[in-house]
Amino acid sequence: MFGAGYVGLVTGACFAELGHEVVIRDVVPERIERLRAGEVPIFEPGLDEVLERNRERIRFTLDVHDAVEGADFLYVAVGTPPTYSGDADLTAVWSVVDGLPDAIPGRPVLVLKSTVPVGTGERVRARLDARGLGNVGYASNPEFLAEGSAVEDFMHPDRIVVGAFEEQDGDRVVELHGGVATQVVRTDVPSAELVKLAANAFLSTRISFINEIANVCDLVGADVVDVARGVGLDHRLGPHFLRAGIGFGGSCFPKDVTALKQLAGNEGYPFLLLQAVWEVNELQKRRVVAKLQKHLGTLRGRTVALLGLSFKPNTDDMREAPSRVIAYRLIAEGAEVRAWDPVSRPDDLPGVELCDSVLDAVRGVHAAVIVTEWPELRAIVSAELREAMACPVLIDGRNLLDPKEARDAGFVYEGIGRPSHASPPEPRKLERDAELRA
Ligand code: UGA
Repeated sequence: MFGAGYVGLVTGACFAELGHEVVIRDVVPERIERLRAGEVPIFEPGLDEVLERNRERIRFTLDVHDAVEGADFLYVAVGTPPTYSGDADLTAVWSVVDGLPDAIPGRPVLVLKSTVPVGTGERVRARLDARGLGNVGYASNPEFLAEGSAVEDFMHPDRIVVGAFEEQDGDRVVELHGGVATQVVRTDVPSAELVKLAANAFLSTRISFINEIANVCDLVGADVVDVARGVGLDHRLGPHFLRAGIGFGGSCFPKDVTALKQLAGNEGYPFLLLQAVWEVNELQKRRVVAKLQKHLGTLRGRTVALLGLSFKPNTDDMREAPSRVIAYRLIAEGAEVRAWDPVSRPDDLPGVELCDSVLDAVRGVHAAVIVTEWPELRAIVSAELREAMACPVLIDGRNLLDPKEARDAGFVYEGIGRPSHASPPEPRKLERDAELRA
C-alpha cells in the first residue's frame, strides 16, 4: 500500500482484516515511526482497533523495495490535491510509479485507489511499459470511503468498482475483496475513474440543490427538513445527502467537483451544472454572516462563537471546512471569533480563539453558530448556556436543534431553511388545515 494517509491506512488495515499480509509504505519518516509505535495519526472511528487486531499482518516501511518484494498487488493511495488550475495534482502518483524498482518479478497488479482524472490509468500504463514493467498489471479500484465511517464503508460497501485493461487483473482485484459481500461493477479503466468523480459530483449536486431549496424555504416560510423528507421518500430519489446546511467541505467533494468541471472544460465541454453546484456552495457558507447581521446589525465589535470546526463530525479534518470561510468572513466584518471543537484544534486559524468547552466559547458572545453537527451539540439548549451569552442569538448551520425547543428556551434561533414558528400561522394555512380536518 503506497500512502499511509487516510485512504491508505484504512484500506491497508481492512485488507489485513480480510486476512491479507499488508505492507504500508510512506515517504514521511515521522509518520512511519509513529505507526510502528502503534500510534494512529488520524482520527477515524474503529481504525485503531482494526490496526491493533491485525498487528502481525501489517508492516510499515519507508523502503520501496521492502514494499514491492513479493507483493501481489501494488495499491496506490496517495494524495491527489487540486492544483491552482483546478486539475488534480498527480505528483505523488508519478513518484510512486517512477520510484518502483526497475525489475519486478511475476505479475503484480498496480491498483490505483486514489481519485484521479479520467485518462490517468492509460498514462500510468504507458509509463509502466516505457519503464520495461509491462509485466505489471493495472487496475482502477476507486475508493468510496467517507471520513468518520471509513472502516464500515470498506467492510460493507454499496459496491466495488474495478476497471482493468486485462480481464485477469480485474478478476484478481475482485478476489482480493473475498469476504466483502456486495455488488461488483466490472468495467474499463476510464469508466471506473469516472464513476468515482461522477458519484462525488452527484452527491455534491444533491447538497447544493437542497441548500437552494432551503434558501427558498427561508423566503416562503417552508421547512426544508420536512421538504427533504417528503422528497426523499420517493424511492427514485432516496433520502440521502438532502441535509441542508452551510455547505459541503472536506478533502473530496470540493476537489472532485472542481476536477470533473475542469476535466470536462479541458475537453471543450462547459459543465454548467457543476459550476452552479460550486457557486451555490461558496455562497452558502457566507449566508451565515447575513443571518447574523439580520439579528445583530453590524458585526463590528461583536463576538461570535463557532461551535464545531471540522468539515463534518467524527473527524478532525479541517480541509475545505466551511468554518474557515465563516471565521474569516466574520473577522473581515470586524467581529471577534471564538471556537470550540471536540477534536479539531487547528493551528492555522490565526485570530480565532480556541476554547476548551462550549460554555467557555459562548461566554459573553453576541451570537453562536453551529458549524459542525457534533452529537455533543444536540443537548446544548439550556438556561445555563443562554445566560452565559451576552445575546442569545443561535444560528444553527446544520439544523441540528429543534427550533421550537430552542425558542421556548429563550434563544433567538435561526436554522437554514426552517420557518419561524414565533409568528402565528398565516390565514391561508389555517384555512387549508380546516379543509384537511373536514
Ligand atoms: C465523500 C464521499 O461521501 C465518499 O463516498 C467518498 O469516498 C469520499 O468523499 C472521497 O472521495 O474520498 P467525505 O468527504 O468523507 O466523503 O464526507 P461526506 O460524509 O460525504 O460529507 C461531505 C460534506 O458534505 C461534509 O461537509 C458534509 O457536512 C456535507 N453534507 C453531506 C451536507 O452538507 N449535507 C448532506 O446531506 C450530506
